Amino acid sequence: EGTIRNLDHPSQIFAPRPNSMGFDLTEAEWLARIDAARDVTVPDGEPLIAGEATGTARPVKNPATGAVVAQVTDADEATVDRAIDAARPWEAAADTRAETLHRAADLYEAEYGPFFAVLAREAGKTLNDAVGELREAVDFLHYYAEQGRALDRPARGVMAAISPWNFPLAIFTGQIAAALMAGNGVIAKPAEQTPLVACMAVRLLHEAGVPRDVLQLLPGDGAKVGAGLTASPKLAGVVFTGSTDTAQVIRKSMAENMDPGAPLIAETGGLNAMIVDSTALPEQAVRDIVASSFQSAGQRCSALRCLYVQEDVADRMIHMLRGAMDELALGDPWHLSTDVGPVIDGEAQADIAGYLKTKRNRIIHQVDAPKRGTFIPPTLIEVNGINDLEREVFGPVLHVATFGAEDLDRVIDEVNARGFGLTFGLHSRIDGRVEHIAQRVHVGNTYVNRNQIGAIVGSQPFGGEGLSGTGPKAGGPNYVPRFAAPEAPDVDA
Ligand code: NAD
Ligand code: ALA
Repeated sequence: EGTIRNLDHPSQIFAPRPNSMGFDLTEAEWLARIDAARDVTVPDGEPLIAGEATGTARPVKNPATGAVVAQVTDADEATVDRAIDAARPWEAAADTRAETLHRAADLYEAEYGPFFAVLAREAGKTLNDAVGELREAVDFLHYYAEQGRALDRPARGVMAAISPWNFPLAIFTGQIAAALMAGNGVIAKPAEQTPLVACMAVRLLHEAGVPRDVLQLLPGDGAKVGAGLTASPKLAGVVFTGSTDTAQVIRKSMAENMDPGAPLIAETGGLNAMIVDSTALPEQAVRDIVASSFQSAGQRCSALRCLYVQEDVADRMIHMLRGAMDELALGDPWHLSTDVGPVIDGEAQADIAGYLKTKRNRIIHQVDAPKRGTFIPPTLIEVNGINDLEREVFGPVLHVATFGAEDLDRVIDEVNARGFGLTFGLHSRIDGRVEHIAQRVHVGNTYVNRNQIGAIVGSQPFGGEGLSGTGPKAGGPNYVPRFAAPEAPDVDA
């Protein structure tokens, strides 16, 4: 009937709106409209708080060209304190909150041109990725709006929302929308690299009707502004997406400073594997391996990092994979034909290039990358298995190992033992094997005979276990309830 029942909270039944239809990039009319946005001026960014904001201005640069996109003022300590003092939960009725977020979603869609421009210029997103990102942000707003409408528990208070640069609109918006729909106030801290898109988004949320003291934005450094928020006893919880290391720092700070009941809702890093067995369809597997590893320049937490190919088909698969990698177009993110844009900044580029140097004896394929800008050449590295990956390298780098027919369970156990548990890919045409592996692997999202990125809000709830996150899954029915106060204990029990 088009409704969803929350199995953990059976009284909650909600009817999500259809997901965003997106933009048809084969339509000349759309292309012309999008192209007109190429040169729009991206407004400067600043703290958006209910009171006076002060801080230090700095330029935000385009990773592909080094050109200045706009200035941002990072919040100083006094501004963080003022925002915390001014913050309050959102006391409007749930229906009012839901309608406000639906309105914000419409404003986001109407602003597609400036959003695509800032995503391309500030975050190096290809146009295809920018379209996907805006759609996901809009989907989060609609989905959480309806989910929160059905929630019958009080808010927690004011929550901090700390987000990464790799989905600077979608994840940023999803965190805020869920916290708001449970009735909380939110202080949002975007990543240092991507404050401009965050400012654009918050201005639209305010324009839609979210009060300025209910939603505040603090651009700034993680170790200062982010740490200032997670050390505040006045806050009622933190929603965080970013690296596993930062999540651990935040957990410690919360334990020392916040109420013991304040939740940390964290989505963190991944070391994601895929198994391709000898029954897989090679053309399909290669297409999905390339998308999973190199789309978004490999800067997705869900991206494939370690491919296991069954040894009897390995030579052929790797030969085909090399050919497919050679077809990848690297360059200007705004060109529709570009498959792989730059990595986020010079620091990331230096880190990944340094890693590649340490592995140079094991590189089995690498494509050419532009010399200007922060590009990293898509690279294939031979390994024995996932234990050869010391850490999550956040770029277009794929490791490949082979396995024998008898080794399947050992491979799964090896992946499980590594401790991360975000996505897993499987290409096989044996149903029993698919069933067996899907049961045995400990991850949040398993994808069979397709790529392993780009979860769809409402139909593919997304999130990991172990070192990859605390749950609940974003874009699923248990997400918004986690932002509300826990159900009162049953006094008669
Ligand atoms: P990061 O951990 O460096 O930063 C994330 C955010 O935390 C930023 O806003 C940063 O300023 C802030 N921060 C840094 N130090 C802080 C501190 N001490 N206290 C409070 N806040 C602090 O991560 P990143 O480089 O921005 O993003 C990439 C990482 O995010 C990767 O590990 C990726 O796997 C992960 N990620 C996970 C998911 C998921 O859904 N599981 C999604 C996207 C990205
Ligand atoms: N939700 C994003 C994906 O699935 C991170 O790729």
